[in-house]
Amino acid sequence: MKRIFLGLTIALLAPASSMAASASEQSCRACHVMDTTLVGPGFNQIAARYKGDAEAIQKLKTSMLEGSAGKWGTIAMPANKELTAAEADRFAHWIMSLNK
Ligand code: HEC
Repeated sequence: MKRIFLGLTIALLAPASSMAASASEQSCRACHVMDTTLVGPGFNQIAARYKGDAEAIQKLKTSMLEGSAGKWGTIAMPANKELTAAEADRFAHWIMSLNK
């Protein structure tokens, strides 16, 4: 039962199947949704802002791993301690892939 519920939640929250569900992804969802600002900016908003920026991947990775403040508003993102560099890389590419 628990497993079914988890599967449903993931299906609802992660329309992009390339973003495999992980513990760290779940923690992102506490503050981020796709389209609007929750605590942090929506993933589509982030993608749009960095569109065409050759350093986007690097900037987003650094923000995720070390935290970010003052770029979007008054709330800061703490460093995501549980995130590995490889996961941050995957998230950054996934976010930028939202630009079509
Ligand atoms: C406690 C809430 C919180 C959590 C958890 C969180 N974020 Fe954030 N995130 C924010 C806020 C707030 C900002 C805006 C920070 C700023 O203004 O600089 C942000 C900004 C970002 C940005 C844009 C950074 C930039 O340089 O413009 C990315 C990318 C991002 N988050 C990804 C993630 C990912 C991926 C996770 C999960 C591993 C995550 N966040 C977890 C609150 C959070």
